[in-house]
Amino acid sequence: MPRLISSIDEMKKIALEMRNAGKTIGFVPTMGYLHEGHLSLIKRARSENDIVIVSIFVNPIQFGINEDYDVYPRDIDRDLALCDGAAVDYVFQPTVKEMYPTGYQSYVEVTEITNKLCGASRPGHFKGVTTVVSKLFNITMAQRAYFGWKDAQQVMVIQRMVKDLNMNIEIIPCPILREADGLAMSSRNVNLTAEDRRSALVLSKSLFRAREMAANANSNPKELIAYIKDMITMEPSLTIDYVEAVNLDTLQDATDLKGRVLIALAVKVGKVRLIDNMIIGEM
Ligand code: PAF
Repeated sequence: MPRLISSIDEMKKIALEMRNAGKTIGFVPTMGYLHEGHLSLIKRARSENDIVIVSIFVNPIQFGINEDYDVYPRDIDRDLALCDGAAVDYVFQPTVKEMYPTGYQSYVEVTEITNKLCGASRPGHFKGVTTVVSKLFNITMAQRAYFGWKDAQQVMVIQRMVKDLNMNIEIIPCPILREADGLAMSSRNVNLTAEDRRSALVLSKSLFRAREMAANANSNPKELIAYIKDMITMEPSLTIDYVEAVNLDTLQDATDLKGRVLIALAVKVGKVRLIDNMIIGEM
């Protein structure tokens, strides 16, 4: 079993000992309710580092007031068993009080690229993410951290933060993992009703079809977005938050399909907000 740590001081002490002993630390930050996508990050971290730390913390400051903080799935025993199977060394699971004690008042914020996509529809979300991720980087002292591409904007925001703030950590983005029927893996999928889960398949289907359409020399971002929106609108229980095509390096709206274009979407499926994306062009 991995060692379960809830104290910041204890986690820092262990991390320092590991670093002083010349060991490399790979870190996988999560909010728990682990799935195969998380396990693929852990597997990669395991193969590239001496020590693997997984954090499990549903970070309240990255949720808006009407969002799903309270119903976000949690099951530490299940997560620990999965971490055990994946040969994780340490699971860091602090309480909210441990991370944000009375008097807490420091935040990390990346501007510009957080104004688009999820940043536009979830004000304050990325400030919460960059703050907690900075704290977790400091606590775990990892040299490498592993993030899934499903949260493409999150990866870019964290890469920006690490570059801008000269943090000594390498960010390693890993591919999206999908269920056999194409649905992108997410801890939130467990909150979908059977009917909503069926309707949600249109998200990945329309993205895959858009990628095929993009192979046609005459296609353009507007046409792909319109196609995806039409497909989604045909499912009555789905409400579009956004469907956008952006340049992957700048997150500015893509005017053509040259270079690397990210087609990203966020859609409310019943009560659950899901995101998915597809990169068109060379990786
Ligand atoms: O992607 C997530 O699960 C969260 O945003 C993260 C990176 C663990 C920060 O809370």
